Amino acid sequence: MQPADRLIDNLASLATVGDDGGFTVVHDAAIAIRDGHIEAVGPREEVHAAVELADGAEVIDATGLSAVPGLVDCHTHIVYGGNRIHEFDLRAQGADYERIAAEGGGIKASVRMTREATDEQLLAAATKRLARMRALGTTTAEVKSGYGLSAEHEARMLRTARAAGDAAGVRTTLTCLALHSTPPEADSPDAYVDTAIAEILPACDGLADSADVFLERGVFDVEQSRRFLSAARDRGLRLRLHADQFSEMGAIPLAVELGAASVDHLEATGADGVRALADSDVIGVGLPVAALTLKRPMPPLREIIDAGGRVALATDANPGSAPCLSLPTTMHLACTQMGLSCAEALAAATHGGAAVLGLDDQVGRLAVGYKADVVLVDDPDWRQLIAQLGAEPARVITGRSEEHTSELQSHSDLVCRLLLEKK
Ligand code: NIG
Ligand code: FE
Repeated sequence: MQPADRLIDNLASLATVGDDGGFTVVHDAAIAIRDGHIEAVGPREEVHAAVELADGAEVIDATGLSAVPGLVDCHTHIVYGGNRIHEFDLRAQGADYERIAAEGGGIKASVRMTREATDEQLLAAATKRLARMRALGTTTAEVKSGYGLSAEHEARMLRTARAAGDAAGVRTTLTCLALHSTPPEADSPDAYVDTAIAEILPACDGLADSADVFLERGVFDVEQSRRFLSAARDRGLRLRLHADQFSEMGAIPLAVELGAASVDHLEATGADGVRALADSDVIGVGLPVAALTLKRPMPPLREIIDAGGRVALATDANPGSAPCLSLPTTMHLACTQMGLSCAEALAAATHGGAAVLGLDDQVGRLAVGYKADVVLVDDPDWRQLIAQLGAEPARVITGRSEEHTSELQSHSDLVCRLLLEKK
């Protein structure tokens, strides 16, 4: 075994999904790291016996702290121009999200503002959001397009997401959400689906890992979604669906038919949908912040788990339905509003999210060979990261070297400062 270049020592506890898929808590633990990957993890004495430390290795004394895997946010929309704070205020006074959207606000308003934003503005705003997410424990994030709705603007959003992830020190994976809304220049939703297949998907080649649709009343229907997702699958993309947010439109049967990686939202999912999901490999992704913010029922993750299905949790961070960058807050809501245990919530926001993204052999667990993405919690009990509403990690470590990350962070600070000075 090669010598380790980093040791996180004296951990009061660590919690992770283990090699057997079960949830494990180890007390008096340590993690040895080499070249950005976990070399040994477990009881402190076993780790010490198993690894040698390289000369000059960094030793992090984690006395009084606990550790969990770097969090994996598998559903976000953090590249966008402008903001929709006025819509939040309108909803606070009784306005309806779907009504605002039908009147040209909502996603369509973000499309206008995103198209108008300069490259620098988009990058600075996205970098700031990802840096904040990293401070809150997210080390891997999926980022969707969907506020561009043309080949040029969708690809620009994805390139921005990748650059922002590099600048903020967050590993990103990108999703083409061309079917988020119909743009104003399209003759009809059907004509736009043709454009999305013929122009937008090819423009996202080499950028996107996945494709996604908003299958919802008044947005896109099953047939339009099937056409787009089948074309995306033919290009080698993983499939995702925004499903059952306001109405059950047949998204879950379509996801099962196409072998999608996940269906996300599920606020309107009934017993049949729960059963269909539990009987399939499709992962149900709960977005409790969106449910809370829009006063929708919480997604039935408890029921899906009890029926033997697979689940994940994500922030859905976006300018409208989910103005929140925090997976700790998301996990707190899963426990207090959806009946998940802390162990189930952590598993869903780490290993579950990684499985949605097809990265579960690399991130989302504290295990030998995995990326050394570690969240240190400022308490001997790791559950404090979830129990305390608004909790922030004591420290976030990633498989990238710390030097690289701080260099990148100062680069993003510089970009932000330059832009502020320009204004
Ligand atoms: O996941 N439901 C569709 N899309 C996003 C909302 C985007 C927005 O409001 O801008 C969601 O909730
Ligand atoms: Fe979403």
